[in-house]
Amino acid sequence: MVFKDRVALVTGGSRGIGKSIAQQLVQGGAQVFIFARDLAKAQETASQLGNVTPMQADVADFDQVEAQIKQIIAQTGKLDYLINNAGITRDNLLMRMDKADWDAVINTNLGGAFNCTKAVTRQMSKQRFGRIVNITSIIGAMGNAGQANYSAAKAGLMGLTKSAARELASRNITVNAVAPGFIETDMTAVLPENIKSAMLQQIPLGRFGQPEDVAQLTCFLLSDTAGYITGQVFHVNGGLLM
Ligand SMILES: NC(=O)c1ccc[n+]([C@@H]2O[C@H](COP(=O)([O-])OP(=O)(O)OC[C@H]3O[C@@H](n4cnc5c(N)ncnc54)[C@H](OP(=O)(O)O)[C@@H]3O)[C@@H](O)[C@H]2O)c1
Repeated sequence: MVFKDRVALVTGGSRGIGKSIAQQLVQGGAQVFIFARDLAKAQETASQLGNVTPMQADVADFDQVEAQIKQIIAQTGKLDYLINNAGITRDNLLMRMDKADWDAVINTNLGGAFNCTKAVTRQMSKQRFGRIVNITSIIGAMGNAGQANYSAAKAGLMGLTKSAARELASRNITVNAVAPGFIETDMTAVLPENIKSAMLQQIPLGRFGQPEDVAQLTCFLLSDTAGYITGQVFHVNGGLLM
């Protein structure tokens, strides 16, 4: 896909799905900025990928996000693509879930997308072009025992996607969501083997997904070809939910 002269921000671009999205954007010719809390890891990723600028930013921090996005726009004069990908899990059953774990997941996975979207909309409206893709989750659609915070945040992200799509359509800004199933990254590597093999048995395509499976659809939604698609949630899950 061709992303020549496009400027992109991928939150959580230092590892996993976000790294794969950043890589495909760079291969298409885009200038890519990535946000992560661990700057050293983001720098390492940037040096592997090429045209990537690493930035230290916690998406849950409204002021920090605003300041860093202002800096990107000051440097490049525009911002075409925002991929709200940064996310965390803090799993526990509701009865045992700490308020801090509820807050951390909601503030990062949902609040982070609000913070970044709010910070880019003025520039995207001014340039009468923008593409926003929110990385939500299958869990936002089907729920999961032990993930009430995560499923609430990811379902909320689907709602945010649809409202933002309606608000921003008149400025030629599209907003869509991609909902991965089980993808092999650091996030899922920590799960116990018995949970993983039980999950695998329920996936009709018989394998876990790879970051590239999610990145390819995300990049299609960013491309010029996808200009008439907005307000949609696309599932990439090997058939786990249909
Ligand atoms: N893996 C799956 O099976 C799966 C399934 C469905 C949905 N998803 C979603 O896909 C997205 C990416 O997941 P992944 O599996 O690639 O995760 P991952 O491998 O754990 O990577 C997460 C990325 O997000 C960054 N990040 C986390 N919290 C952040 C914060 N507060 N501010 C800025 N950056 C932050 C991390 O960098 P730092 O730690 O340095 O901040 C890292 O770059 C997440 O939204 C996740 O919920 C994943």
